[in-house]
Amino acid sequence: MSDPVMTAKGLVKEYGKGATLVKALRGVDLDIPRGSFTCIVGPSGHGKSTLMHLLGGLDHPTSGTVIIDGQEMFRLGNKELAALRANKIGFVFQFFNLLQSLTARENIETALMLAGVSEKEQKTRAKDLLDIVGLGEKADAKPGQLSGGQQQRVAIARALANDPPVLLMDEPTGNLDSEAEAEVMKVLENLKQQGKTVVFVTHSHEIAARADNLVHVRDGQIQLPHDLKIAS
Ligand SMILES: Nc1ncnc2c1ncn2[C@@H]1O[C@H](COP(=O)(O)OP(=O)(O)O)[C@@H](O)[C@H]1O
Ligand SMILES: [Mg+2]
Repeated sequence: MSDPVMTAKGLVKEYGKGATLVKALRGVDLDIPRGSFTCIVGPSGHGKSTLMHLLGGLDHPTSGTVIIDGQEMFRLGNKELAALRANKIGFVFQFFNLLQSLTARENIETALMLAGVSEKEQKTRAKDLLDIVGLGEKADAKPGQLSGGQQQRVAIARALANDPPVLLMDEPTGNLDSEAEAEVMKVLENLKQQGKTVVFVTHSHEIAARADNLVHVRDGQIQLPHDLKIAS
């Protein structure tokens, strides 16, 4: 596909060694088209989260590379990699990981502060981000006062703090009921219109049906459409 924002080449990831060796990824080649809503599907334990961690530079592969916007991630030193990650990638996980003692706005301001945004700008940008996810009214609520869908939307707003071109989301709706899932999907539609690239791990057939790039992971490998036909 043309103009991938990210490319993985020959990604291998092994955990442990000897008798406890786990081959989580066995050579993954993957292009993520710029601006796509890419869904990653596949059975539990088959390497989806491992792939997301490597795409996001949160962990190093045993071998292989990830290229984002022309830069080879694992050639960078730790500091440079952290900077690249901060500028290019937002993460959203199944568990929202919000700071419970802070309000929605303060959770986002904290991310903006870590991104080096000035105090004054933190305030206006946090408000803008909450508006983007439709939670402007809930700025002063703490996570405990918000529904699951609302908390996940705060987590998405936080992931957008640095205005990254790519969002990596690992089962972000895995813990949500269908109403909350719909709220999150609405936010994702908006992000797509803004040209963001979203990579989304899900077990939901409804969500996968909306992907414009669907990736099947099985036994640590990408399953091509040809193999899927044989398997079914
Ligand atoms: N930190 C780790 N240490 C050892 N094994 C791991 C680790 N993370 C994942 N694994 C193993 O790697 C395989 C793939 O896991 P994972 O990527 O989490 O799959 P999925 O997200 O598809 O459920 C599984 O066998 C899992 O037990
Ligand atoms: Mg997983």
